[in-house]
Order: sequence, then C-alpha cells, then structure tokens
Amino acid sequence: MKKIRKAVIPVAGLGTRFLPATKAIPKEMLTIIDRPTIQYIVEEVVASGIQEVILITSEGKSAIENHFDYNFELDTLLREKNKEQLRAELERTSGLIDVVSVRQKKPLGLGHAIWMARHVVGDEPFLVLLGDDLVRSETPCCRQMLDLYEQIGESIVAVQRVPMAQTGSYGIVEGEATEHERTCKISRMVEKPAPGVSDSDMAIIGRYLLMPDIFDILGTTTPGHGGEIQLTDALQALSKRRGMYAYEFQGRRYDAGDKLGYLKAIVDIALEHPSLGGPFREHIRTLCGHEACRL
Ligand code: G1P
Repeated sequence: MKKIRKAVIPVAGLGTRFLPATKAIPKEMLTIIDRPTIQYIVEEVVASGIQEVILITSEGKSAIENHFDYNFELDTLLREKNKEQLRAELERTSGLIDVVSVRQKKPLGLGHAIWMARHVVGDEPFLVLLGDDLVRSETPCCRQMLDLYEQIGESIVAVQRVPMAQTGSYGIVEGEATEHERTCKISRMVEKPAPGVSDSDMAIIGRYLLMPDIFDILGTTTPGHGGEIQLTDALQALSKRRGMYAYEFQGRRYDAGDKLGYLKAIVDIALEHPSLGGPFREHIRTLCGHEACRL
C-alpha cells in the first residue's frame, strides 16, 4: 500500500460570499482570532503527519504563500525588540509545511482545480482539503481517514449526515454499511441533487483521500452541476472502477465559507482559547442577562 505524503488544498475561488472583505484579500486569509482560516486547515494536515502541501491558486492569492513563508525583516525586527514568543510563533508557522503552488488559470470547477495538481502529485494517493470546511476534533479528521486507509487501501470521502432540506448544497453519497466502524461502501454519488433525486442524507464535507486514478478520470470529465467540472462526478466514475468508501468522521465541521458558519467557528474557538476563553465566556454570560438579548 502506497504511503500518503501530499495534500492538495484548492484556494483559487473568488470568495464572493464575503465581499467586500475579500475584495483585496483572499477569503482564506480571513482571521479566526489571530490566525487565518487557511492556517487551521494546514494545522490539521500537519497534525495528521503530512508536510507537503500543494495549493491550487489563482491571481491575487500570494498572501497565502507569504503567510507560510519566512519573513526576514519581521524576524529581525522581532529579534531586536526582544519579542521572542511572537518570533517563535512566526518561525513555527513558516516551518509548518513545504508549499508548492499551481495556478488554476480559469475557474472551471473543483474537479478541474484538483486535476491541475496531477503533475505534482504523480502516481500516489493523496489528500484533498477544501478551505471552507473547518473540522475540530480530538483526532484530526485527516488522521482518522489515514487510519482507515491503512485498513482498506482505497479512496475515502468524509461525510456527515445533514437535514434532507440541505442535501441540495452538497455532494451526496449512497452506500451500504461495512464491517469497518462508521464506514459505508459507496454505490452512488450525486453533486447537489435536486429534491427527490437521492434519499440519502450523507453529505460530503471537504476532506477526500484519493487514488491517483482520479486524474485520468478528471481529464475526461465533462461539465456537470452549475456548468463546472465537478469532483463528485469524477468520484462517481472512480467508485465504479474500484472501491470507494464514505467515512462518518468524528468531530464538528464548520462551513467557514458561509458567514454564519464562520461566526460559529470564531465563537467556538474563542470559547476554548487558552487565554481568551475565560473572559470571553464571561462576556457571553453578560449578554444573556442584557435587555437586548432575546435568548
Ligand atoms: C464542494 C463539493 C461538494 C461538497 C462541498 C463540501 O461544494 O463540490 O460535493 O459537499 O464542497 O463543502 P461547494 O461547497 O464548494 O459548492
């Protein structure tokens, strides 16, 4: 079984849902307390034992690469000012991953973005993480998937159950339970099904562990939902060619690409923050007693 060494993170999207905040900065650089959202995704990759990250970028996304790079001027300044703790934190951030970036020149869809990584990934299985999906869990979501991969040796998509009314916002999978805990063998996948097309509530969240065969399939996948080349359509073809599994991960997922999901992530992370958690909880308590509070 081939070892997984690489993670692909597509970050080429325009982030229109957060305009005007994202007019001049990438949406992946919006902060949660003192880190950009992309750092939470990268920290999950690193905590899962992977260090090689391939970013699929577009114009105007260089701030992301700079964030994980070493900044000589800042390092010198912090050293001179004796701000050792901050300097160490920046050094840790710049040492987190080795980044390779590939440009997606046209916004042709998620499937096309992943296909752009084919030369850098080569003939080995790899992970895909979508920057909008933040997962908080004891064992990192990608680690959970890697552990399952070591048992089954095939592609895996992470899923969670969603209310039926929301299935049209996700890739939906259908399948049969297996002897592995929380794991189904996939029989069918549909991208953002219209009501009545699928009676499954298992939604793909942005974590995939894929066999390299996906690249051949993506190369011939025609535009699907929304006129874009959909990863889900290629996965459906891959599941027919060889086995594919859906894994109900353990943890909490936030849709940080949506304003409410982003806000929930900020609040939950702040509540557990080592130094801010206490005073922030106090603040939330005062809100509940406030006359304007309709809780
Ligand atoms: C993408 C995928 C979809 C998946 C979702 C998870 O959709 O195409 O299958 O369920 O991410 O966040 P998007 O939300 O980018 O439209």
